[in-house]
Amino acid sequence: MNDNKNNIFAKLQLPNGKSIKLPILEGTVGPQVIDISSLYKETGMFTYDPGFTSTGSCESKITYIDGEKGMLLHRGYEIEYLATNSSYLETAYLLLYGNLPDKQKKEDFINAITTHTMLNEQISNFYKGFRDNAHPMAILCGVVGAMSAFYHDSTNIENKEERRIASYRLIAKMPTIAAMAYKFSIGQPFVYPSNKLNYSENFLNMLFSVPAEEYQINRVFADALDKILILHADHEQNASTSTVRLAGSSGANPFACISAGIASLWGPSHGGANEAVIKMLNEIENVKNIKQYVEKAKDKNDPFRLMGFGHRVYKNYDPRAKVLQKIAENVLKEEHKLENKLFDLAKELENIALHDSYFVEKKLYPNIDFYSGIILKAMGFPISLFTVIFAVARTVGWISHWNEMIEDKTSKIGRPRQLYIGEKPR
Ligand code: SDX
Repeated sequence: MNDNKNNIFAKLQLPNGKSIKLPILEGTVGPQVIDISSLYKETGMFTYDPGFTSTGSCESKITYIDGEKGMLLHRGYEIEYLATNSSYLETAYLLLYGNLPDKQKKEDFINAITTHTMLNEQISNFYKGFRDNAHPMAILCGVVGAMSAFYHDSTNIENKEERRIASYRLIAKMPTIAAMAYKFSIGQPFVYPSNKLNYSENFLNMLFSVPAEEYQINRVFADALDKILILHADHEQNASTSTVRLAGSSGANPFACISAGIASLWGPSHGGANEAVIKMLNEIENVKNIKQYVEKAKDKNDPFRLMGFGHRVYKNYDPRAKVLQKIAENVLKEEHKLENKLFDLAKELENIALHDSYFVEKKLYPNIDFYSGIILKAMGFPISLFTVIFAVARTVGWISHWNEMIEDKTSKIGRPRQLYIGEKPR
């Protein structure tokens, strides 16, 4: 726990003449925080910050974002470095353990994940309970939550080894669960994991191979998918990670907590935006319509927003979007597909918006969701799977924060208060 070793305080002067000192805490980098934990006890007042625009909920060593600079660090490593020099499982190890693995640790970790990719066979019965037009995110929510009914030997959160096993099971099985959701929705047989393939190759094989013929892994696609998973792996205290932390703070088991995170990510303002971007680009349809949609996005009376634009933290270009734009160029070259139409439309929309005073003044830039859908679509993923891919990638971020919270002996159940504006006692 960060104590106020720098001995700096903020002074709060209240209307009744009372004033109190609040400790100011400093992190390694980034904004200082004012520790208000004693405020209610000393003043009988709460702070008020709907949406937590100015509120830090915890201490963390996992990820640091500098929104002004458009910088993203995982355990001190820049996201561009990781996307270029590491694999998703190496980044997963870094998020979980704080350092990149040496050769032996990397081998052991990859082997541990690879040998946990199969699901208890009974879990496949859950899929038959869904209608075939069920959204894969609904299936993911349900099946991941139901894992707590199967893996009783890894639900005791007080036991470090059980937490490790649950963490590995979730990272290993998410692609299997996601691929099964997709296969179920298109009426094709489930494809079992194959231990001779790496994480992303195995995911592509479970999604797109069929028993009737040999499936050739496209190396460009497998490499692009691995980078997409790295770019989506973690992002500080975003809505879904905060959901996982809050659910976990009550002592709920890890599978239930991750299911809650999946539910939060599904929203179009969060992870669901990648799906919403494609729908928006299809609606705009032609470069000549862009101006009219940009005007709609600026109109306060119009609920339309430019999906894939804007961010609570980034007031500069999302560094992940920059990497994704390069990946899009590689994949589209490989595919020479119609998707160039969507990509060209997206680049023109970005160009127009970034020269429009509304977007410039409000510092609205493309975020991670702006290009990711175009790449996934070019690789043959159906739109309904886009947020599922995000959830598969973010699982290691959620589980790293969950472990960090449990290991912090000072953490307690999260229980915000409110400003009551309802009826007086009557
Ligand atoms: C992700 O938190 C994370 O880290 C999330 C994420 C992660 O990795 O976990 O990065 C992943 O969720 C990325 C964001 C994906 N969502 C979208 O692309 C949906 C479109 N974006 C907006 O809904 C919005 O920008 C949010 C939700 C992302 C952020 O909302 P905020 O921080 O609450 O900002 P806001 O809604 O208060 O907007 C500030 C102003 C407003 O205008 P004013 O009221 O000040 O006049 O900017 C405007 C908004 O109207 N605005 C937009 C806009 N986004 C914000 N106007 C038009 N189009 C947009 N996209």
